[in-house]
Amino acid sequence: MRIYTWFDNYIFETSAYPGEHEHLKGLREETAKKYGSLSRLAIPVDEGRFLSMLMRIMNPKRTLEIGVFTGYSLLSTALALPNESQITAIDIDREAYEVGLPFIQKAGMENKIKFIQADAISVLNEMLNNDTQPEFDYAFVDADKANNKHYHEQLLKLVKIGGMIAYDNTLWYGFVAKEEDEVPEHMRAIRTAIMEFNELISSDPRLEISQVSIGDGVTLCRRLH
Ligand SMILES: C[S@@+](CC[C@H](N)C(=O)[O-])C[C@H]1O[C@@H](n2cnc3c(N)ncnc32)[C@H](O)[C@@H]1O
Repeated sequence: MRIYTWFDNYIFETSAYPGEHEHLKGLREETAKKYGSLSRLAIPVDEGRFLSMLMRIMNPKRTLEIGVFTGYSLLSTALALPNESQITAIDIDREAYEVGLPFIQKAGMENKIKFIQADAISVLNEMLNNDTQPEFDYAFVDADKANNKHYHEQLLKLVKIGGMIAYDNTLWYGFVAKEEDEVPEHMRAIRTAIMEFNELISSDPRLEISQVSIGDGVTLCRRLH
């Protein structure tokens, strides 16, 4: 999702659309065709490029994605990872994933991805209950925002020290910075959950954080200990 600003088109036209990978473009267009206005659930193109750049700098071996939808963030990540890397991608909805899957396959990225159709809290709990727990270098969280605080505690056990957790939508259309009576009623509950979560992570001594105003806001959290 993204907050629209007056300079968006400038960013899109000059540095986001030019050079967008052909299969990311295909996936984005197919998502728009199939889902119409709901396609805004996907991260925007400039955020995709930002996450790709982050992946190329970090060079992670094992990553996790919670909230896949049709796979724009997933394919942006996969394309930037080395061949031997593995992404565990979790979503309750397989149908949306299958809309993007042909583009993931055409891009030759399917072998890097293990898609799990399930509730993410349960999958992470299972991982934590295993004798040998996986260790991730990076996790991207873009699912049910009210559960972020639960994902956070689970991920701080599954992401390595020095690794990164990125939370999407931490600006929630900018409503986190508005008074409640300026916010449409149906957006208020999630706004409150996101505001509480933002406060929680900003005072969490286990993290170093940076909230980036791109898309709908993405907060990068580096695990310190
Ligand atoms: C905002 S969309 C993800 C967008 C995606 N990152 C992209 O760039 O296209 C949120 C997704 O989270 C999934 N989701 C919601 N609650 C979930 C849960 N408890 N466990 C797993 N997935 C969940 C939804 O099915 C939806 O596909």
